[in-house]
Amino acid sequence: MSFVVAVAGATGVVGREMLQTLEQRKFPVKRIVPLASSRSAGTRVHFRGEEVTVQEATPEAFQGVQIALFSAGAAASRQLAPEAAARGAVVIDNSSAWRMDPEVPLVVPEVNLDHAHHRPKGIIANPNCSTIQLVVALAPLHRAARLKHIVVSTYQAASGKGHAAMEELQHHARAIALGEPFTPTIFPGALAFNLLSDWKAGEQGYSEEELKMVNETRKILGDPTIGVSPTTVRVPVLNGHSESVHVQFHRPMTAAEATSLLRGAPGMILDERPYGPGLHPQPAQVSGRDEVLVGRIRDDLAVPGAINLWVVGDNLRKGAALNAVQIAEALFLR
Ligand SMILES: NC(=O)c1ccc[n+]([C@@H]2O[C@H](COP(=O)([O-])OP(=O)(O)OC[C@H]3O[C@@H](n4cnc5c(N)ncnc54)[C@H](OP(=O)(O)O)[C@@H]3O)[C@@H](O)[C@H]2O)c1
Repeated sequence: MSFVVAVAGATGVVGREMLQTLEQRKFPVKRIVPLASSRSAGTRVHFRGEEVTVQEATPEAFQGVQIALFSAGAAASRQLAPEAAARGAVVIDNSSAWRMDPEVPLVVPEVNLDHAHHRPKGIIANPNCSTIQLVVALAPLHRAARLKHIVVSTYQAASGKGHAAMEELQHHARAIALGEPFTPTIFPGALAFNLLSDWKAGEQGYSEEELKMVNETRKILGDPTIGVSPTTVRVPVLNGHSESVHVQFHRPMTAAEATSLLRGAPGMILDERPYGPGLHPQPAQVSGRDEVLVGRIRDDLAVPGAINLWVVGDNLRKGAALNAVQIAEALFLR
């Protein structure tokens, strides 16, 4: 059996990664329907060695579509995801539009695939990229000892803000190297040779991105009591998010126990090398990979029974496209 699959946002960095992921994993696509805004209608994207014309994402464009993968931003998802679902498609949405809707499951297949089967609106949400890699690493520990408090600081790549942000970082770095002036327009300041918190303001002094990590972690793991203290930071990396994570549990956990719980856990590769300069998972190593890399598991020096770890993932792949395709595989191919 093969399926009619729409990719809304097909010209963006996540949309292109979705097309590539469908192709690489040999998802049985009968017909691909690449969609974008009217700006890109008529342009072409590559799929399985062919050029396919991009159409404007309108409600009618979803007629006959069985699986609709959305990565077109929250406004387009709010408007078009219900239209796609009303026409019979299962929608898997990458934006923040539906994630906290109680009638929309928020799914990471390695963690809570069972939630994907109850979808009253016909929509399944993909979590925020930073949250996906965090819960892939922490879910096995949560099952064993229940998470009590997480302190997470992120080091997020430019690609998390889309293709224009990646281009701006490259252009800015080149301008600095050439001694030329450059005024950023996508980032609210210089990211090249610098770092920034560039997300919209949320509440109580936190950014929206930070609050997403709090709320989405609790929803995916099904435990509203988990404490999450987040700080999100954009770093001048093109692709691949990193996270420094401190974790406290409802019972003492050691680095040795955490290591044995994470060894062979789904969706990750555990880096057990003892610390040495450069001996740790890095964004340059994870870019293009499916797995989340977890390393530097240490007993906390100040809080008995707590651990620290380092988590690196490809935000475009496991943080977005791959996670969505894995959900589709689980629902349609098994
Ligand atoms: N980048 C990541 O790491 C990441 C991770 C998880 C989730 N996401 C989410 O995925 C979505 C896309 O992100 P991105 O990074 O791929 O951004 P991007 O590179 O800027 O691409 C945006 C895409 O959305 C399309 N689009 C914009 N407005 C539209 C509209 N009104 N109707 C239809 N299509 C529209 C664009 O089409 P045009 O070519 O016509 O402009 C383009 O294809 C966002 O919701 C983002 O939050 C991103």
